[in-house]
Amino acid sequence: MTDTAPSIPDDAVTLSQGARMPLLGFGTWQIKGGDAVRATAAALEAGYRHLDTATVYGNEKEVGRALADSGVARDDVFLTTKFPPNRVGRELETLRASLEMLQTDHLDLWLIHWPGEGSANEDIWRTFVEAREAGLTREIGVSNFDAELLDAVTAAGGVAPAVNQIEWSPLLYDAEVLAAHRERGVALEGYSALRGGTLDHPAIVAIAEQHGRTPAQVIIRWHLQHQVVVIPKSVQADRIRSNADVGGFVLSDEDLATLDSLGGR
Ligand SMILES: NC(=O)c1ccc[n+]([C@@H]2O[C@H](COP(=O)([O-])OP(=O)(O)OC[C@H]3O[C@@H](n4cnc5c(N)ncnc54)[C@H](OP(=O)(O)O)[C@@H]3O)[C@@H](O)[C@H]2O)c1
Repeated sequence: MTDTAPSIPDDAVTLSQGARMPLLGFGTWQIKGGDAVRATAAALEAGYRHLDTATVYGNEKEVGRALADSGVARDDVFLTTKFPPNRVGRELETLRASLEMLQTDHLDLWLIHWPGEGSANEDIWRTFVEAREAGLTREIGVSNFDAELLDAVTAAGGVAPAVNQIEWSPLLYDAEVLAAHRERGVALEGYSALRGGTLDHPAIVAIAEQHGRTPAQVIIRWHLQHQVVVIPKSVQADRIRSNADVGGFVLSDEDLATLDSLGGR
């Protein structure tokens, strides 16, 4: 822990139903039990106001407990969980279980976690729209969808997903994918930005050294400057703080062009 408070950015994207989604969130995949309570508490203490969990992560109860005990008002936190599409037909029962574990009466964002089989996506999406209209979630979206799947659910439900959460990093940058989301009014949320060799990529390390920052901070800052949501995960309090401490520097246009070029597209 450092003595000075981290400089947390308050950049956000306004989603289709008007919810303000902070561009920086805290990812909780593979954090379980007491670690999930401690890590989520550390994230809230560090200033994160956006938490990302999922039914299949098995940690909604711990995330909910950390949030309830944090002293941070529920309305000040953007809360996402995800529905596993193999539970098609049991959407509302799954959502109610998530809400109970998260100790809240509504989500900010509910995502279809990955594409389902056959007509599952369309069937689930229509129920998602009903859940949103019933006030159980402010926004609805999807994860791991391509443009064709985004269009299919949009046609089925009459409403486009507010968000698509996909794997994203400088090494996966694709301007066409970003543009496809913008054209459809779908916010792009990236995951696993710190995996896949990004943290020790020489070009990213070089930019980090120029700015006196960590590679993780450069990658997170790159997302923010592209208006892409980023949700770094860590169980280590010092990393949780430092990953959020990205408000105090700016990547140049040249830095951004270098990072974008790593996607090779
Ligand atoms: N929708 C989906 O299908 C999907 C798939 C994957 C992930 N997600 C979401 O996206 C979130 C982020 O993705 P992720 O968990 O795959 O990976 P990530 O946040 O990209 O990277 C996490 C890994 O990086 C390490 N790390 C974190 N900060 C670091 C730092 N400053 N320096 C060095 N290493 C650091 C972590 O280790 P320590 O914990 O030991 O620090 C962990 O091993 C997930 O937690 C989840 O919420 C969604």
